[in-house]
Amino acid sequence: MTERIVLAYSGGLDTSVAIGWIGEATGAEVIAVAVDVGQGGESLETIRQRALGCGAVEAYVADASDEFANEYCMPTLKANALYQGHYPLVSAISRPVIVKHLVKAAREFGATTVAHGCTGKGNDQVRFEVGIQTLGPDLKCIAPVRDLALTRDKAIAFAEEKGLPIETTKKNPYSIDQNVWGRAVETGYLEDIWNAPTKDIYDYTATPEFPPAPDEVTISFEAGVPVAIDGVRVTPLQAIKELNRRAGVQGVGRIDVVEDRLVGIKSREIYEAPGAMALITAHKHLEDITVEREQARFKATVGQRWAELVYDGQWFSPLKRSLDAFIEDTQKYVTGDIRMVLHGGQAIVNGRRSETSLYDFDLATYDTGDTFDQSMARGFIELWGMSAKVASGRDIRVAGK
Ligand code: ARG
Repeated sequence: MTERIVLAYSGGLDTSVAIGWIGEATGAEVIAVAVDVGQGGESLETIRQRALGCGAVEAYVADASDEFANEYCMPTLKANALYQGHYPLVSAISRPVIVKHLVKAAREFGATTVAHGCTGKGNDQVRFEVGIQTLGPDLKCIAPVRDLALTRDKAIAFAEEKGLPIETTKKNPYSIDQNVWGRAVETGYLEDIWNAPTKDIYDYTATPEFPPAPDEVTISFEAGVPVAIDGVRVTPLQAIKELNRRAGVQGVGRIDVVEDRLVGIKSREIYEAPGAMALITAHKHLEDITVEREQARFKATVGQRWAELVYDGQWFSPLKRSLDAFIEDTQKYVTGDIRMVLHGGQAIVNGRRSETSLYDFDLATYDTGDTFDQSMARGFIELWGMSAKVASGRDIRVAGK
């Protein structure tokens, strides 16, 4: 029987050419797998037809946008995950869900190998292949760009020679990856890290310098998950989409960073994640009133580690799973409303309320009704400073000798 390979298919030039390229190089039949993670653009049906037109023997298409929002974006939100303090893991969290569907398709169509369009320099090859190793340990991996010398020029020549139903003239100078959680743009002019991004780079956000009137929004959460916007019930996917739109027109969520790739290269990336950044801001502020201090401090460390693991392709790892359990436990009381103003590139919280809040007005107030016994503070401070005071006494003694 002819060997079969499932290919992670985007509908773009490189993966369209990869179908025939892999076929010629290996003699295998190629099954194209397209997964909708809310990236917008062409319909899955259009993509399916193109895959078949480019020589795929089968096309597997899946609308995974709700699955992606519920099982990948929501854990990222609960973790307040920002890699290196900036990047909400847009591409990093889409790979594991695509991997799930690749493995499912491989089983359905009896494939032995999984192919993807990543280069040998980035994080995504690692995320795909580590994911495949974990979910389908018997499956092999191949990356035509990395392993079969499929360069851009060769791809264009191949598409023209074979008359593939794909545009080869439209030249996009950037490498772009997008889904409902955000958008990542790199390469070209951006590789000079002194160059400011030009306006044409952005798609999810309008320029924050000329914003429309301020937009006040109330986001309601239950156990760390957004459930309503301005009182209207929403699914996680709807919440992200609605905030992509409303925060996007205000220019919220533009990020310009040089980040540390897993392979040891520092690289410049422009992100726009209006919905994700507005939601993370709101969620963090709700945690500020509902999560106990020590738990919150520790959670910040856990969230950072979680972000690193996910960035580094360890979505399906035991440590990531254990951290998920911790994070989930912290979300029990993260229920309530956050009011925020979206304007001119910023999402600023100006009100919060929660039935499970730890904010105690009577403890906090400086007005009448104060229940806090200030006389307790003296003894507390005395003991709190004791350890450092004893050490400082020793330092003075030693220095004096
Ligand atoms: N650097 C980001 C990451 O590794 C985004 C990579 C997405 N690819 C792109 N063509 N911009 O998660």
